[in-house]
Amino acid sequence: MSDTASQVVIEGDVAFVTGAASGFGLALSNELVSRGVCVIMVDIVEDSCKKAADELNAKTGKNVAIAVKADSTVFEEQLAAYELGKEVFGRVDYFFANAGIVERPWIPPFSPSTSSTRPITKPNLRTLDVDLNGQLNTAALAFQVFERQEPNPRNGFRGKLVFTASVVGYYAVKSAPLYSTAKAGIVHFMRSAAQYYEDKGITVNAISPNITVTAITSQEILSLFNQEDLCSIDLVVEQMISVLGSCKDNGRAISITGKTVWDNPPDTLMRDQVLPVLSVGDDAIGKALGLWQ
Ligand SMILES: NC(=O)c1ccc[n+]([C@@H]2O[C@H](COP(=O)([O-])OP(=O)(O)OC[C@H]3O[C@@H](n4cnc5c(N)ncnc54)[C@H](O)[C@@H]3O)[C@@H](O)[C@H]2O)c1
Repeated sequence: MSDTASQVVIEGDVAFVTGAASGFGLALSNELVSRGVCVIMVDIVEDSCKKAADELNAKTGKNVAIAVKADSTVFEEQLAAYELGKEVFGRVDYFFANAGIVERPWIPPFSPSTSSTRPITKPNLRTLDVDLNGQLNTAALAFQVFERQEPNPRNGFRGKLVFTASVVGYYAVKSAPLYSTAKAGIVHFMRSAAQYYEDKGITVNAISPNITVTAITSQEILSLFNQEDLCSIDLVVEQMISVLGSCKDNGRAISITGKTVWDNPPDTLMRDQVLPVLSVGDDAIGKALGLWQ
């Protein structure tokens, strides 16, 4: 565990984790509980999520985790999961917008020779629904919950939101058109929201891993990579934890490939010419659009 993550004090806090039945979400839930955090474990898969929560409660001998079935693409289901969690644990200090799926084929493969025999089909946008809209649902819930609760007396923050993005959010790849789009959208949204919430006792950050062995990636795909190029789940969870507690970091895109961790900066090409023009009107534009008063 890095110095930063090991110094974070979060005992007594409460977290809401989507995609908690497997992979990063499950490992994160375990780590949070080991640090004295209560966890609302949310997943579309009920059985394994409940089993994991039961194990955490049995291990600690306390009611530290609840499992709630919710499809992250349905806002009302996430809201209901929060309300249940609030009844049990009182508040939520950390929201992890983590649930995700791998790229799903969105239109049939390009094949001019057979295209005349096939109708033009509607795209399958499920990848965007889960990886972009599902995580934005968590964000929408988090910001409105933070707005309605007092700052945490131990760290002074109303709350913290952490997204699980991906390195393909910066580097578009041919094999993940919608997944890359969703992750790029998350990184961009995180940077925008971090500006709006920076003076409101709320932090927003994203963790962007490269390929890691979890259930999202099939063995067939994992076998294409050298083991040393893969990230470890522990290193990713460590980065997730590092921005909690009294950490003031906001707007970071913490990225991991293999054993290397870095902050991926926003695009800078032409930024000095473009940003002054945009920032002059940013407050007024938001007002004109009805985003704030
Ligand atoms: N593993 C990797 O290589 C890798 C790399 C970069 C980013 N990520 C991201 O990490 C996050 C977690 O994925 P993981 O690698 O732990 O995979 P995983 O498949 O092990 O876990 C994802 C979890 O999300 C849940 N889920 C899927 N759709 C859902 C929905 N609509 N509502 C609620 N829950 C849903 C699944 O049931 C599963 O438990 C995802 O956002 C993924 O895109 C993974």
